[in-house]
Amino acid sequence: MPKLQQDLMFTLYGTDVWKGFEPVKVEDEVQGWNGNHPSLSRLVSTPGSQIVIDVGVWKGMSTITMASEMKRKGLDGCVICVDTFLGSPEHWSPGSELFERRNGMPDLYQTFMSNVHAAGVVDYVIPMPQTSTTAASILRRLGIKASVIHIDAAHEYEEVIRDAQEFWTVLEPGGFLIGDDYHWTWPGVVKGAAAFSLQEGVALSIEPPKWIVQKPL
Ligand SMILES: C[S@@+](CC[C@H](N)C(=O)[O-])C[C@H]1O[C@@H](n2cnc3c(N)ncnc32)[C@H](O)[C@@H]1O
Repeated sequence: MPKLQQDLMFTLYGTDVWKGFEPVKVEDEVQGWNGNHPSLSRLVSTPGSQIVIDVGVWKGMSTITMASEMKRKGLDGCVICVDTFLGSPEHWSPGSELFERRNGMPDLYQTFMSNVHAAGVVDYVIPMPQTSTTAASILRRLGIKASVIHIDAAHEYEEVIRDAQEFWTVLEPGGFLIGDDYHWTWPGVVKGAAAFSLQEGVALSIEPPKWIVQKPL
């Protein structure tokens, strides 16, 4: 069982938030977008202890990909999973079937937790129900830094830049920041990724539809 997850769980919560969790029935396949991209498994499988932050986790596809790879490789790793669990503007449409609501409140947190539970990677995952900006600020205050950060939250230019800047501060030197949806259908992401790499003076590498930058040592 990975020790890193237990240590970080205590730092963040002072208790194990999985304790007493009751999963709901889940679909056979986790619904999501680009969450099984090969860059995710590749970059989290560096030997040694590995803290990963997944920003924008939806129902858990990207989280499960990374946590499963850590488990498969026997790494002492942990994925901190940041999301409001409220969905993004593009997910908000009356009568949408992407997720259920209870009295108007999306059930995404319960779905995410149940999918992670069903995938057998609870010991590698810490949920963090927060906005991206507040989560970055909490992690900074607690001195938690990651070696890989995957950002797939809001897709507007200002938000892409803001998330990249915020999480850059909690990325270890030599670590990788991976963004999703570098595609013409998301102009805010394409513009944001280019602007951020220019701002930081780091090379932008594209593995469609992911954009990747490495923090200098
Ligand atoms: C495209 S989905 C993530 C998909 C996921 N990575 C996967 O593998 O399927 C975007 C997610 O970002 C979350 N989100 C959007 N804006 C956010 C913000 N400002 N802070 C935290 N989460 C946010 C939404 O709730 C949604 O779950």
